[in-house]
Amino acid sequence: SRTVTRNADGVATVAGIDVKQLAEEFGTPAYFLDEEDFRARCRAWKSAFGEEADVFYAGKAFLSRAIVRWLTEEGLNLDVCSGGELATALDAGMPAERIALHGNNKSTEEITRAVRAGVGRIVVDSFQEIARVAHIAERLGRRQRVQIRVTVGVEAHTHEFIATAHEDQKFGIPLAGGQAAEAVRRALKLDGLELVGIHSHIGSQIFDTSGFEVAAHRVVGLLKQVRDEHGVELPEIDLGGGLGIAYTSEDDPREPQEIAGALREIVERECRAAGLAVPRLSVEPGRAIVGPTAFTLYEVGTVKELPGLRTYVSVDGGMSDNIRTALYDAEYSVALVSRTSTAGPMLSRVVGKHCESGDIVVRDAYLPADVAPGDLLAVPATGAYCRSMASNYNHALRPPVVAVKDGAARVIVRRETEEDLLRLDVG
Ligand code: LLP
Repeated sequence: SRTVTRNADGVATVAGIDVKQLAEEFGTPAYFLDEEDFRARCRAWKSAFGEEADVFYAGKAFLSRAIVRWLTEEGLNLDVCSGGELATALDAGMPAERIALHGNNKSTEEITRAVRAGVGRIVVDSFQEIARVAHIAERLGRRQRVQIRVTVGVEAHTHEFIATAHEDQKFGIPLAGGQAAEAVRRALKLDGLELVGIHSHIGSQIFDTSGFEVAAHRVVGLLKQVRDEHGVELPEIDLGGGLGIAYTSEDDPREPQEIAGALREIVERECRAAGLAVPRLSVEPGRAIVGPTAFTLYEVGTVKELPGLRTYVSVDGGMSDNIRTALYDAEYSVALVSRTSTAGPMLSRVVGKHCESGDIVVRDAYLPADVAPGDLLAVPATGAYCRSMASNYNHALRPPVVAVKDGAARVIVRRETEEDLLRLDVG
């Protein structure tokens, strides 16, 4: 988080509060989220895309009532991908018309709830869903705004993208073979649907804008085909999320302005060339907004030196609060934050307390050689896909999320308790 600094005693402080105080008050492990940083990132995305575009925060990265309120206040829209996320959004007062519902297998119940609530868009993901949403909307006497999610044959991850043949996945309707065009044909015929646009999401943790450019090019190609075939100009394009963030000093993320500029330019140029009115653009960043705004604070429990190999530093959390290292081989950094040390660097592996040797938080890290039980370690950039993917493995209690702002800290998601676990266990 951009506000972490050290005080005179070498203790890290965030938003003016020292981490020892935070650990004492809220316990460890815990996620600390910088509210001002979150809001600043929302504003950066909003202003980069301007009034002619919409920014939908992807709730899957991390969602809570406080997050929904901040988004609402900052003028962002919200992408939800389940009934649970929809319930949180509506409960916290996000206007339904600013919500988009996603998912490759939305239940009838989820669709019904979304249509009833009046969500601004449902992103339909299959032929069956086109019929299903239309049927539900007609029954409710509504005309639901929908976008069709297409796969453009681009898959991007980090620095690379592959521009062919990545239609072999569960999401979206392939442009290839005319399937997406057929989906448009069907959607246009259904009274319950107002087809407003085409959606594409090409991947995650992307640093290179060229994958988005190829996607934009292909989506505009479909808009042109639709215009030529039906005389209809679809007014919206959504190019999804996926912008990468810096997990370690090796990552070099693009700024929102860069991505906004690149996307706008390609969409405008291609539409002009095709004689189409420029559609309203939207994007769905999750990680890029919330990822950098939080860190996880852990306490060291044991330190085990394996001569000639490395030192295992065990903390009081692990794969239950951050599955990303185990699942994706994700890289994180880690710092000793409860004191400074003059000891030399020691190759360490920061591991959790779970019953599994893959329970790694940070695979390779240099920590001071005197790291010891009771030390506090911070792992930055854990705002996205950590609390939202947290589990109760080994009956771990999922950590709280604490918002810090102007020298004050407050819990926005409380720590789970053993009663919470036992309440579900009704056998
Ligand atoms: N829109 C759609 C349709 C998506 O599927 C996703 C992410 C996003 C937006 C937001 O992407 P972002 O800007 O956050 O990259 N659990 C994985 C990431 C899975 C992302 C799934 N979809 C991780 O921890 O890296």
